[in-house]
Amino acid sequence: MAGPPRDVGTPVDLFSPVTLGDLELANRVVMAPLTRMRSGASGVPGDLVVEHYRQRAGVGLVVTEGTYPNREGQAFVGQPGIVTGDQVAGWRRVADAVHARGGRVVLQVMHGGRVTHPDVNGGRRVVAPSAIAIDGAGHTEKGKQLYPVPHALTVEEARGTVADFVAASRRAVEAGLDGVEVHGANGYLLHEFLSPAANVRTDEYGGSPENRARFVVQVVTAVAAAIGAGRVGLRISPEHGIQDALETDRDDVRATYGALLDQLRPLGLAYLSVLHREPAGDLVQELRRRFGGPLVVNSGFGSVTTRAEAVALVEAAHADAVAVGRPVIANPDLVERWAGEHPENEPRPHLFYSPGAEGYTDYPALQDRRAG
Ligand SMILES: Cc1cc2nc3c(=O)[nH]c(=O)nc-3n(C[C@H](O)[C@H](O)[C@H](O)COP(=O)(O)O)c2cc1C
Repeated sequence: MAGPPRDVGTPVDLFSPVTLGDLELANRVVMAPLTRMRSGASGVPGDLVVEHYRQRAGVGLVVTEGTYPNREGQAFVGQPGIVTGDQVAGWRRVADAVHARGGRVVLQVMHGGRVTHPDVNGGRRVVAPSAIAIDGAGHTEKGKQLYPVPHALTVEEARGTVADFVAASRRAVEAGLDGVEVHGANGYLLHEFLSPAANVRTDEYGGSPENRARFVVQVVTAVAAAIGAGRVGLRISPEHGIQDALETDRDDVRATYGALLDQLRPLGLAYLSVLHREPAGDLVQELRRRFGGPLVVNSGFGSVTTRAEAVALVEAAHADAVAVGRPVIANPDLVERWAGEHPENEPRPHLFYSPGAEGYTDYPALQDRRAG
């Protein structure tokens, strides 16, 4: 009998390495995608943004903030893009900074869909699967404004948007990033297609669960074909109930996301990232089985992810890795702190979206404290 004894029943450690497709992670703490709106009108990540990601490169994988693949899809003032040559050059600096510290980084490609306004996306159309406005207002260059009724994408325009995701993903790889995470969560364009409340189309993209899943299948399949499935992840947030992309019928959710993942399974994607309040619950674990690949989880905005939660999720094998948001904002060296059970800095939410270094690159590392 050759080979070492199998570690049957040995819990896996949050601080142990893991491989997600082509991505080899030093530990299972993933920096969750975190919009910080510090890339100015040009959408070019500059010195401050480079420094922010450089500081946090000790996580197993950095997922960048949601980044627009075309100007129509820009959802926030100061959001970075991956459209222009300058934006690509900016992301190359981010990739180099993370790699220089031995880290890994993927770009979250995010089309905002109807969660935007012409005073955010440079006067362009606001688009969605159906012409249904979000009930509410969003922050624009001219203060808070009601969300407009979006233009319902034609089939041809939907195909053009798929092509924009592909071009954006190629640019991300060209910039030296290790891959992309397609943003299918949190009520933005892809999630709008999945939700029966936001998508009332009667063509091939609407109606049945399979039809509502079609656009996301097409985006992810095309991106995987372009840059290699092993460097593509997908983020979803079934039942999140955010930005009017409601999903209130569990059977429909299971059918819609099941149809999505059944079709993505053969691709062999790097990972599926699920935001859901019960990562260990039936729904997420069923979706994991149907996906058949590595699972990253996050329990959502309701409570801030704790060390104990992350450790338990990985040890119980409910996930292969955990996406961690606000603790990584507040602690550039979070993995070191969690590994050594050191105290943490508290996040300052009023500075999440403010301009400048305050609340962004000025959270101290343990070393700074020792030195001071
Ligand atoms: C300031 C802020 C910005 C966020 N931006 C994004 C984003 O761009 N894309 C995304 O998928 N999720 C985004 N999220 C959600 C986080 O990735 C994460 O799911 C959430 O913060 C809950 O995890 P936590 O308790 O570890 O913070 C954001 C959350 C916060 C607090």
